[in-house]
Amino acid sequence: MAGRLGVRIDASADVSCLAKPVSMPGHTIPNSLAIHPMEGCDADADGRPGPLTVRRYERFARGGAGLIWLEAAAVAPEGRANARQLWLHEGSVDSFAQLVERIHRVAAEFEPAHRPYLVLQITHSGRHSRPQPVFVHDDGKAAGPLLSDEELDRLQDQFVAAARLARQVGFDAVDVKACHNYLISDLLAAHTRPGRYGGSFENRTRFLREVVGRIATEAAGALAVATRLGIYDGVAWPHGWGVASDVSLRPDLTEPCRLIGQLRQAGLGLINLTIADPYRLPHLGRPYDHAPDGATAAPEHPLVGVSRIIELVGQVQRAFGDLPIIGTGYSWLRTLLPHVAAAAKAAGKITLVGAGRLAFAYPYFAADILRTGRLDARKVCIACSACTRIMREGGQTGCAIRDRAVYGPGGSANRPAEGLAAGEYRRTT
Ligand SMILES: Cc1cc2nc3c(=O)[nH]c(=O)nc-3n(C[C@H](O)[C@H](O)[C@H](O)COP(=O)(O)O)c2cc1C
Repeated sequence: MAGRLGVRIDASADVSCLAKPVSMPGHTIPNSLAIHPMEGCDADADGRPGPLTVRRYERFARGGAGLIWLEAAAVAPEGRANARQLWLHEGSVDSFAQLVERIHRVAAEFEPAHRPYLVLQITHSGRHSRPQPVFVHDDGKAAGPLLSDEELDRLQDQFVAAARLARQVGFDAVDVKACHNYLISDLLAAHTRPGRYGGSFENRTRFLREVVGRIATEAAGALAVATRLGIYDGVAWPHGWGVASDVSLRPDLTEPCRLIGQLRQAGLGLINLTIADPYRLPHLGRPYDHAPDGATAAPEHPLVGVSRIIELVGQVQRAFGDLPIIGTGYSWLRTLLPHVAAAAKAAGKITLVGAGRLAFAYPYFAADILRTGRLDARKVCIACSACTRIMREGGQTGCAIRDRAVYGPGGSANRPAEGLAAGEYRRTT
């Protein structure tokens, strides 16, 4: 099929390289299988993990993945994407500590010595904040005033404070989220913004560089600094990032690679690469069979999308051979995921493979890959986008197909968050 589409995707029968540990300063990631950050929209009003949050991470912990990248946690209440997003602050820090402790305890059920590497993603949702979107540059869709340079300076302090709390809680690394068109990723494309955070490469990347540098020097200690970075927006220049400055929409990784080099110098130790805004161009970053809106068809075959993201991530991994890089966009491959990931790792295109939607559907996927070398076709994600749709409709989300009793129609979680009218926090951008 890939050949007929004009793309090439390699696969390997031998997946044993996915069992290889990955060395980090002071820690070893026990294998090369990672779980991507996946929001469940099930925190309480103060941003503390709720019962379904704990259930999700217990399942992930039991599943044997070497790295669990915990979902987006806001650094400020006005930066939450929905009223049920995690929010890390002095008042919620104890609940986060309990969650970390719980994950480590339950991980022993996989293997007594299993200790997954835990990363927390910290974020400000920018234009995707609800109920009030926050804009940092005007791309023709900004429906409100732009955050000022001084407000961005203060927001830097909030990221650093959240990183300190993440260290206190016992995370191994903190991720300064810079993808999917949330605030920091939006800044990377702020060519038309005046002032210290817009225009030149130096200004557009300032926020991320300075926050990573400040966390590394002011807050890190034993905590590693990571980022989940979008490397290609798929949006025309001057409002896109990682895109050629003509009308072609061609990926151009010159600036993303220059930035990664500078982040390395500033202390970055781990990176998770992704592409595009999932609201505007979901087919690019999470290839699917059914669109999140339930109606529109994907504009390209999902294999074209899978191949594009593997190749883009591979270009970066080849440029930064010693940087642990996690690849994204593999869930559509279903049972082929370990085989394609093993080939990508063997070819030096990734260090670890991440699973997002697959982990919702099949939290024990890593255990099956490590123990049997294969995935069970009855358990894989079917790329139906129901998890995305539930989230956008204001519900608590998970896999509506494989975890039906909880997230399927009539399931205990598939409903708008209590106290909210359906869709009140629906993201519209
Ligand atoms: C319901 C849902 C929630 C998500 N939450 C996050 C998140 O909190 N942070 C993030 O960086 N990406 C998030 N993503 C994106 C995934 O981490 C991942 O990039 C995407 O699903 C593609 O990988 P996959 O093909 O393995 O699913 C989310 C995706 C979905 C469908």
